[in-house]
Amino acid sequence: MLQRIVKPVLLLVLLVLTHRTYATEGMWLPQLLSGLNEKEMKGMGMKISAADIYSINKGSLKDAIVSFGGFCTAEVISEQGLLLTNHHCGYDAIQKHSSLQNNFLENGFWAKSAVEELPNPGLFATFIVRIDDITKAALQDVKPGMSERERQSVIDKRLNEIKQGARKESWQDVMIKPFYEGNQYFLFVTETYHDVRLVGAPPSSIGKFGSDTDNWVWPRHTGDFSMFRIYAGKDGRPAPYSKDNVPLKPKYALTISLKGMKQNDFTMVLGFPGRTTEYLPSEAVKQTVDVLDAAKVEMRDAALRIMDGYMRKNEQIKIQYAAKYAGTANYWKKWMGEMQGVKHTNGIGKKQQYEADYRQTLAANPVWQQQYAGVLDSLNHYYQEIQPYAQTRDYYSELIRNVELFSAADRLITFLNDVYEKGEGQYETMRQQFLDGMQPFYQNYSAKVDQDICVSLTDLYVKGVPAQYAGSEFAQVWQEYNKDSRVLAEKAYGLSGLTSMDKLKAFMQQPYTTVVAQMWKDPAVRLVMALRKGFVENVSRPLADLQANINNLQRTYMQAQMDVMGNKKRFYPDANSTLRITYGKVDGYTPRDAVQYDFYTYLDGVMEKYIPGDYEFDVPAKLIELYKKKDYGRYGVNGKMPVCFIASNHTTGGNSGSPALDAYGHLIGLNFDRTWEGTMSDINYDPSICRNIMVDIRYVLFIIDKYAGCTRLVNEMKII
Ligand code: ARG
Ligand code: GLU
Repeated sequence: MLQRIVKPVLLLVLLVLTHRTYATEGMWLPQLLSGLNEKEMKGMGMKISAADIYSINKGSLKDAIVSFGGFCTAEVISEQGLLLTNHHCGYDAIQKHSSLQNNFLENGFWAKSAVEELPNPGLFATFIVRIDDITKAALQDVKPGMSERERQSVIDKRLNEIKQGARKESWQDVMIKPFYEGNQYFLFVTETYHDVRLVGAPPSSIGKFGSDTDNWVWPRHTGDFSMFRIYAGKDGRPAPYSKDNVPLKPKYALTISLKGMKQNDFTMVLGFPGRTTEYLPSEAVKQTVDVLDAAKVEMRDAALRIMDGYMRKNEQIKIQYAAKYAGTANYWKKWMGEMQGVKHTNGIGKKQQYEADYRQTLAANPVWQQQYAGVLDSLNHYYQEIQPYAQTRDYYSELIRNVELFSAADRLITFLNDVYEKGEGQYETMRQQFLDGMQPFYQNYSAKVDQDICVSLTDLYVKGVPAQYAGSEFAQVWQEYNKDSRVLAEKAYGLSGLTSMDKLKAFMQQPYTTVVAQMWKDPAVRLVMALRKGFVENVSRPLADLQANINNLQRTYMQAQMDVMGNKKRFYPDANSTLRITYGKVDGYTPRDAVQYDFYTYLDGVMEKYIPGDYEFDVPAKLIELYKKKDYGRYGVNGKMPVCFIASNHTTGGNSGSPALDAYGHLIGLNFDRTWEGTMSDINYDPSICRNIMVDIRYVLFIIDKYAGCTRLVNEMKII
């Protein structure tokens, strides 16, 4: 009897255990995989070893990955230095080469031969040669009881020595970064190439298909890729641009697999994630979503609504504001997803549970008690104290950012301060630079749109920021305008010399002393001066002091968590733009009741979304033709063309362009986004809904080969 009951129960337990005995959360350090992750990765299906991913003795996967310009990731996919990254990562480069006659953004760009590949001054690609743990040496002089400043100063001194003494070749660089909130330090030897040329890009109707409407959204149908090539000196080493440079012969180039993925297949993503804060106390997570995200969303909501209203009525404004709208909308949408995701998964409740467990475990150990008692409480206390300052900071920066007249005034004030510091004599040379920098700003500026945004956002600022933080000078100006943002805006936009390039030029033509004396009469400058003064006098100092206390406590709390909870949880360091690996499985998800998302999209979905002539959902004629003929070559499966897929890899901004690799380390796709419901993974990863979005490598190759006919590129690649 008993046996009969026990057996099914046991089976059930086993089933539950085998269902998720792996964790997909984590952005791991590639040099530590063998100790920390290799076993789990193999258990999840990985067929290669940790040394195939990171090795200093042989070419390994990490040698194919570069930081692309410091803001994205790219990977080497041929023996001739061919690089693959996202369309939105190459966007600036593509735009700079575009003109009305040769609009590469609109029509795409394909270099038919090496001589047609286009240089991009300023763009670089950085390889990681080696990563060393230097924690011990870095912290050698740190003594208990040191103030934050003392501590940092002895560490900086050490880091300097370590950097000077690091073993490296003459053409390599050394970079040191803190990890685990400053509890550990790692040194990176890097190689940076500065001759990176544009090789190919699809038209935006493929590379940016779905644009803002589909941004952060699954199901997705974007061919978000572009291609570059690294050029080196004849000796293969980094060299400044020269037409005599040659394609880089890389230490390692990725192999491409056309096999495709099934549900639950193992995947990993290698790249340079920018910033996460996964170890905040529950109070801080609550503050992030309820207060800070909410304030920023509120400000951007208003700005976007106004832009959208004008863009729909006016073609000229639509062109001028498209990029600005996209830039503002990207994080606006992300923060909304974050707020909702934390709520939906009970993120705060789960953190509180974790903290209760932490407190209990801590209390049972006298040594930990002595080291860490009260850390979490103090941290919570400081987060409460910083809240009004942090909220003001966000209102303030969103106001200056989104009211363009205020941004212009802010830039002018900063510029005049710079001149003051460098000496009046520099004014004339510096002025030209400043004016050149302002030129693009006015090309896409509409004072009409901006004035409406000013009215709306000033009201929100006044409502959101307590008077004592906004300051007395602002109060005075506000009073002069009868506390009426319309009156304020009419004055500011009617009389300011900053509403057009011509007016600004004329104003700046005067001698420095006149400019400084006159600028007080400019209502926009005066207003921004008042706002800045209020912020500097009432907010930035306490904010910085409280933040220093928080950083200090976050560091202790991080170490405390690793000590106290180390048996129950593995800890990875927060993202800091260094090379990381994250792994997961191909899988759909359930965002809300009764809704179930599949993990693959196909070209059929592109055609379902197709709106002829629409700026987001148009489809190029050639692609429609290929679709009608089902002419997919070796890239299609069963008469269908795969486009995008999702998996539970833990990624963030900066992972754009990162390779998605299969169990053998073969390239199967290109990371470019996350699903909206899961954008909270930056503060609270939850495996149930956090998914990264990748474009299938077969779609990329299909576009290069069948759509663009650029077979010379496909021929360079190693495809299995
Ligand atoms: N959401 C992606 C990222 O955070 C893509 C942004 C670019 N695409 C866009 N439609 N704005 O960077
Ligand atoms: N689009 C992001 C980027 O540019 C990646 C998406 C994310 O934040 O995960 O890096």
